[in-house]
Amino acid sequence: MKATAVAHANIALVKYWGKRDEALLLPEAGSLSVALDRLLTTTTVELGAPEDSLLIDGRKASDAELRRARAVLDAAGIRDRARIESRNDFPTAAGLASSASGFAALAAAACAAAGQRRGERELSALARLGSGSAARSVPGGWAVWEDRDAAQVASPDHLPMRLVVAVCGEGPKPVGSREGMKRSRETSPYHAAWIEQCRRDLPEALRLLRARDLAGLGALAERNAMRMHADSLAADPPLLYWEPATVGCLHAVRRLREQGTGAWSTIDAGPHVAALCAPEDAPRVEAALRSVPGVRDALVCAPAGGARVVERSSDARPR
Ligand code: DP6
Repeated sequence: MKATAVAHANIALVKYWGKRDEALLLPEAGSLSVALDRLLTTTTVELGAPEDSLLIDGRKASDAELRRARAVLDAAGIRDRARIESRNDFPTAAGLASSASGFAALAAAACAAAGQRRGERELSALARLGSGSAARSVPGGWAVWEDRDAAQVASPDHLPMRLVVAVCGEGPKPVGSREGMKRSRETSPYHAAWIEQCRRDLPEALRLLRARDLAGLGALAERNAMRMHADSLAADPPLLYWEPATVGCLHAVRRLREQGTGAWSTIDAGPHVAALCAPEDAPRVEAALRSVPGVRDALVCAPAGGARVVERSSDARPR
């Protein structure tokens, strides 16, 4: 009744920012992401505990976090109480903790602990109920999520690339993604235009991915991220996720391009900047980002695979 699974965080190149169904966590528009090898979460689930508990990096989770974990277990038909322990194996913990890798690993570990055999699409749909972006961390690689589950559309090695993640801040962000996208949807005058743009961006991004056009895909990802932040900035009250170092990185990446190095920025609902580039350019991009004032660390990540069970206790039998 115990199992451990791992999953990678992912970063979206066409972003999910708006739900068409708040309760079911269904997106207004499709998104495309790539899983990142160095951002790994390991989660152990032990069933048959006296009560539900959740530890994240040794810290007792909040009630809201525990409720989200329980929602995933309930949806999987797991009624046993669970002791859940989750570890983010990130070289720096500075605000990079990811709900995507966490809920993907949780769905895989919980179902394995319960002796359930579920396919990837079912696990993806379960992970989605914890956090929308977690649906994409189950298949990993290059993944598209449009409806109830996500699927891999290209393997991790399809397009040689690196994402250099510059750590531009510390601690939890003031407004989480859930609240941020809700506020944008309800109050930003640009939100409808943002969603329409995503619907145009996704097919175009898939075409560029198929053509292995890194420059085209990078430029599209940068535009898409800027437009998501434009939507958020126009919310009421406005959502400003950037720190001074974030802006410094955006300029550094633009300067790299002016000097002939292909690099493009993307930013999630937080201060960190991830720069897309070719593998051979990663050392130059990393050095440039590290030299930006306020950048605490930079992680060079390669595309990674999906969630997988790494250990299961012998008494967990299929039911
Ligand atoms: C900016 O998946 O964290 O990272 O579904 O409410 O849990 P909930 O939100 P979440 O939002 C991720 C937003 C994003 C863009 C993306 O990953 O596509």
